[in-house]
Amino acid sequence: MNPVSGRPYRSLKECVFFPAVAIGLFVILFGGLIVLFDAEARQQADPQNIVMTKCTECHSTKRICDNLDKKDREEWTETIYKMVSNGADVAEQDIPAIAEYLADLEPGSKPVCR
Ligand code: HEC
Repeated sequence: MNPVSGRPYRSLKECVFFPAVAIGLFVILFGGLIVLFDAEARQQADPQNIVMTKCTECHSTKRICDNLDKKDREEWTETIYKMVSNGADVAEQDIPAIAEYLADLEPGSKPVCR
């Protein structure tokens, strides 16, 4: 019997091993969560994803499709600002990327045009 009773670990090896496993699991778990959230955040900043989700709340993408060969980057920026004032749920910091995406899109491109 161990003279010092009430010790939580039977040996130094266990004393080191269990916390090490706990910390390892913790790191794996939270590392995984961070990777997941990061992927989600990046997906939201993807201009195509924004157009296909946020720009379809009021009208179909046909309106956008019909304008693909008509607007340059500046005109798209103005249009998106106008849509934001119409009530579009688009972050201001994402507007340049969306304008660039739409200005570079070939007329008839999927998924904006079906
Ligand atoms: C809150 C509703 C709403 C959302 C969300 C919305 N729009 Fe619109 N959109 C409108 C309305 C209303 C019109 C017609 C009146 C006008 O031109 O403002 C319109 C018209 C348009 C037009 C044709 C008129 C023009 O100025 O060329 C385009 C192109 C367009 N929207 C693109 C977009 C894009 C790109 C997005 C996403 C960033 C978007 N819309 C999101 C409401 C919305």
